[in-house]
Amino acid sequence: MTQLTPELDQAIQARIRYYRDLGIYDFYRRGEPTSESIPELESVSVTNLAPEPPIPARKPTPPPLISAASVESIPAAGRAAELQAIREEIGDCTRCPLAFQGRHSIVFGDGDPNARLMFIGEGPGADEDMQGLPFVGRAGQLLNNMIAAMGLKRTEVYIANIVKCRPPQNRVPEPEEAKTCTQFLFRQIDVIRPQVIVALGATAATYLFGGKSPLARLRGRLHEARGAKLIVTYHPAYLLRDPTQKKEAWKDLQLAMAELGLKPVPRPEN
Ligand code: URA
Repeated sequence: MTQLTPELDQAIQARIRYYRDLGIYDFYRRGEPTSESIPELESVSVTNLAPEPPIPARKPTPPPLISAASVESIPAAGRAAELQAIREEIGDCTRCPLAFQGRHSIVFGDGDPNARLMFIGEGPGADEDMQGLPFVGRAGQLLNNMIAAMGLKRTEVYIANIVKCRPPQNRVPEPEEAKTCTQFLFRQIDVIRPQVIVALGATAATYLFGGKSPLARLRGRLHEARGAKLIVTYHPAYLLRDPTQKKEAWKDLQLAMAELGLKPVPRPEN
């Protein structure tokens, strides 16, 4: 039988708990066992698990609805505390595999808890993972320029991501990872209650819409998500690769500005 190291054992236990949270209780081995296969996983049932660490009491989680019309508005003064409560509930999260793939920080979100405008990206990159803040690398600098071009300061908006932990090699988050994490993002949105959400790129659009659609079909018009107007535009990392699309992104941002009653400002050159 393969000898498990404590680290591997911990990773397997966490993975099994993750599947159990998704409602999967039995695991079946595919094909014949090999010397690389992990016997414990071939026959494990959740009753074989070591006792779980105590889970802190949670506030009831609202279901991940796309519309949040029923969520009561939180007074402006209480929103920072509500966000802090969500952060504490996340804790040192091990709810999905991204917890075990080299994460340094959980990147919760950044900005004004009373923001009227929220930007949502895909997931932290290397810089964000090291600093614990969203959009602080090259793509973040471009996002800062986009925000400034709208006549706003970064501190006046709120910025978050679909997943709060860095996917290895910046790969697209797996659906299970995104679905596990967006329950918290949706609660952040419900606390902040922005007037406008800008989805940066296809991953943000997919999970805010609850389904995949080509970005080209979603861009350039207003949608709704969780009680806010939703606008989809290109991810800043894509704009760094193809700067010719910046003028299209600027059109999307102008839609957001019109919705927020912000005056048009000249299009930035960079
Ligand atoms: N890309 C994202 O989608 N989010 C970040 O925070 C940084 C880069």
